[in-house]
Amino acid sequence: MKGLVLSGGKGTRLRPITYTSAKQLVPVANKPVLFRVIEAIRDAGIEDIGIVIGDTGNEIRNAVGNGRRWGVRINYIPQEAPLGLAHAVKISHDFLGDDRFVMFLGDNCIQGGISPLIEQFGSSDYNAQIVLKQVGDPQQFGVAEIDEEGRIIQLVEKPREPRSDLALVGIYMFDQTVWNAVEAIRPSARGELEITDAIQWLITNGCKVHPYIHEGWWIDTGKKGDMLEANRLVLDEMEPSIAGYVDRDSHLIGKVIIERGAEVINSTIRGPAIIGEHTRIVNAYIGPFTSIYHHCLVEESEIEHSIVLESSSIRELPHRLEDSLIGRNVDVGRSPFKPKAYRLMLGDNSSVGVL
Ligand code: TTP
Repeated sequence: MKGLVLSGGKGTRLRPITYTSAKQLVPVANKPVLFRVIEAIRDAGIEDIGIVIGDTGNEIRNAVGNGRRWGVRINYIPQEAPLGLAHAVKISHDFLGDDRFVMFLGDNCIQGGISPLIEQFGSSDYNAQIVLKQVGDPQQFGVAEIDEEGRIIQLVEKPREPRSDLALVGIYMFDQTVWNAVEAIRPSARGELEITDAIQWLITNGCKVHPYIHEGWWIDTGKKGDMLEANRLVLDEMEPSIAGYVDRDSHLIGKVIIERGAEVINSTIRGPAIIGEHTRIVNAYIGPFTSIYHHCLVEESEIEHSIVLESSSIRELPHRLEDSLIGRNVDVGRSPFKPKAYRLMLGDNSSVGVL
């Protein structure tokens, strides 16, 4: 069995972060979402992984490399434009050959990994297996309608009146029958080759498409709120550890991870929270569900339920920062200049909320 990870796309919903970097490389609990995907596939026993890349391909190649670090072999499959999930499958035929494979969206996070589903699919004669999850708002998702015997009858993309609350999670398993499906379908109204159309084609043509209902959490990290939610859920499952320096005047409460070379001086950290390598926390408060990545500085400030990317600094803020996603090399600080005013340099599509 092989793995196929989709890491192209535009990432419009995560601008401005995605103007300069790939959304799959945004860290959740200080590890890029894409690395978590690769680890989930590796842990399911798969060693050959293809990664579909787009405009951010070079950044992904530089971050992931040849996969040796995870004990896997990585192949890169450039996609000329984000022409749809089924298009990404289509262009991966040479890499996948006639092997069965699992396809995983590179911006999705799933609790508990994918070993149980891979085992089930590997020992079955199903042509495809799709992962479904009960959701409260099925109108937002691709939804599967299932009959009394648990077979999938129909897939509907963002139905106005959903006939079930089972949404398609971004993990799919296929055998070689998928090649007929991706050849047969045509682009949708939004101009993409849709994976739901390919799966529907398999169902209509009598192939065995089996559902796997996932019980744990699953997050598609397409937007800031989802990113923070994934961060919250992953942090909550981590074990505390201290590899950096914490001075005597600091207090660590609950599950806190201090990575190598980090320094915590006269500060309070209330977990779950993670402080990255060579980051300094000075006279500060770090609240629950916060991930500060490497080489950052948080000084004389309070921050909670947020993600801060590498090499950024947050200094002397008069109010607590919450629910925030801060990019790389960002400076947020108090200005000493008169008159007192907000002085901003924000990228396109940024959003700022002030008191
Ligand atoms: P989406 O989140 O559906 O699309 P997107 O990344 O372009 O984001 P947005 O809607 O905010 O513009 O994509 C899911 C995953 O699949 C994501 O990791 C990107 C990847 N992808 C491809 O690799 N090729 C494609 O043609 C598409 C549509 C997505």
